Order: sequence, then structure tokens, then C-alpha cells
Amino acid sequence: MASAIRHQLEETTNFITGVYNSKPEAGIILGSGLGNLVNEITIEKEISYGSIPHFPVTTVEGHTGKLIFGELSGKKVVVMAGRFHYYEGYKAQHVSYPVRVMKMLGVKTLLISNAAGAVNPAFKVGDLMIINDHISFFIKNPLIGTNEDFMGPRFPDMSEPYCKRLIAEAKKIGEKHGYDLKEGVYTGVTGPTFETRAEYKLIKAIGGDAVGMSTVQEVITAVHAGLKVFAISVITDLGIREENNIITHEEVLAAAKDAEPKLTGLFKDIVSVI
Ligand code: HPA
Repeated sequence: MASAIRHQLEETTNFITGVYNSKPEAGIILGSGLGNLVNEITIEKEISYGSIPHFPVTTVEGHTGKLIFGELSGKKVVVMAGRFHYYEGYKAQHVSYPVRVMKMLGVKTLLISNAAGAVNPAFKVGDLMIINDHISFFIKNPLIGTNEDFMGPRFPDMSEPYCKRLIAEAKKIGEKHGYDLKEGVYTGVTGPTFETRAEYKLIKAIGGDAVGMSTVQEVITAVHAGLKVFAISVITDLGIREENNIITHEEVLAAAKDAEPKLTGLFKDIVSVI
């Protein structure tokens, strides 16, 4: 008997393919204040989350909440304009549900952006950091529970969650554009609080370069399902910092907005080489 989740995924996918019948090759999830890439897409169909069976609905400022289907750099893509965060109250499986939908729709590669705080002292606000690994121990693993065998194995390998070839391609593209791309380990946390000074120090001590409230659950789900992943952080604030430097959501959004054109340029070019 098919699992309840499989049944839901089939209903979701049937609904989507009923209104849009091209097969996207890449899925793209855009972070807070990083939604401008959609202006580069030749849009073929937009579907608001609210109308899709079993899809959660976003609540956070800076997110719009729709799936956008279209063409970018000659490839069919599906973009999640607005993502689901664990801190909004969704279960881990709900946060990553759209990734499974993408897999069902035929997506092979997932591109992700996010806003993150840096704990690597060599980073500055506005930097782009290619994620080459992550630490998931502070978040809830979305694969806890009955394994969906039709998606992937019970104990997925995580030795290379981020596609090495796409990282190398991104570096080449960065050089071509003259971007100073950083590279490092993203540490997933639940939020919604930003970290205390002691927590930022801990994250640095365990090998993190940046920290953020998204991405890791999506990546775990994608790797489980056999998708290739490329992800990048926009550094919006510095966790290892002077006294009296408080972090606000507004500051994070403003920094993301400034770095956004670089990110858009990079994603556009990466899609052409997936
Ligand atoms: N911590 C966690 N999440 C974040 C941060 C941060 O400093 N900046 C942007 N998202």
C-alpha cells in the first residue's frame, strides 16, 4: 500500500501537471530578500501555494508564496518564491515537502540561496559563500519517521551533499564576473532568535563558517531523493562581532538586497551548466 505521504505527493503533482505540463530540470529556492532572480525568468506559469493541495503557506516578510515555472538560461526551471521555515511552526517534513514535489515533477538539480550570519572572521557583510558542507545537528532531521522508500534509502550517505562539479563551475563563473566568492560550512539552526555571543562562538568552534535558519532540511531531503544540490549564502551579518552590535531582520534584508545582483548573475550562469 502506498504511504500517506506518497499519496499526498501524487495528488500535489497531479494538480501541478494538470495546469502546467513541461518538465522542469532545475528547482530553485530563494532566500529572504533574494527573490529578484524571478525577473530573469521567462515565466510560463505561476501557481500560488494556497491553491496547491497539501502545500504549506508562507508567513514571513520578504516571501511571496508561489511556484513559478518558466525558462532561465535556456532551461526549464521551477522556482519556489517563498520557502517554509521550521521556526514558522511547520514540521520538518512540511518544510521540505516542496523538494519532494520537485523530485516528482522531474527536477534533477536543486539550487538554493539563503541569508546567513558569518562566524568566519575573514567574511564580511555582502559576501557570497558557496556552501560546501553543512552541520545539521541543531535542527530536526526531516527524514525522521517512516522512510519513504520510493524516495530514497533509510540511511542516506551525506559525504558529499553539495555537488562538487557545480561548486567548481560556480567558482569559474565567479572569476569570470570578478566576484570574490567565499566557500564554507553552513550551520543550520532553528531560529527564530539570532544566536547569542556564546552560540556564535560555539558554531565557529565546531567548524561552521556561517549560520542560518533554512536550507539544511531542504538539502537533506534533496540528497535523500537523489537530487544534485548547489547552495549559496549571502552573508548579511557578522556573528563574531564587537559589543553593542545587535542584529535585526531589517538589517538582514537590506544586506541581502545589496548582494542580490551578484547572486542573480551567478544563478543564471549556473543554470546554463547544470
Ligand atoms: N543567524 C541565524 N540566521 C541568520 C543569521 C544569523 O546571524 N543571519 C541571517 N540569518
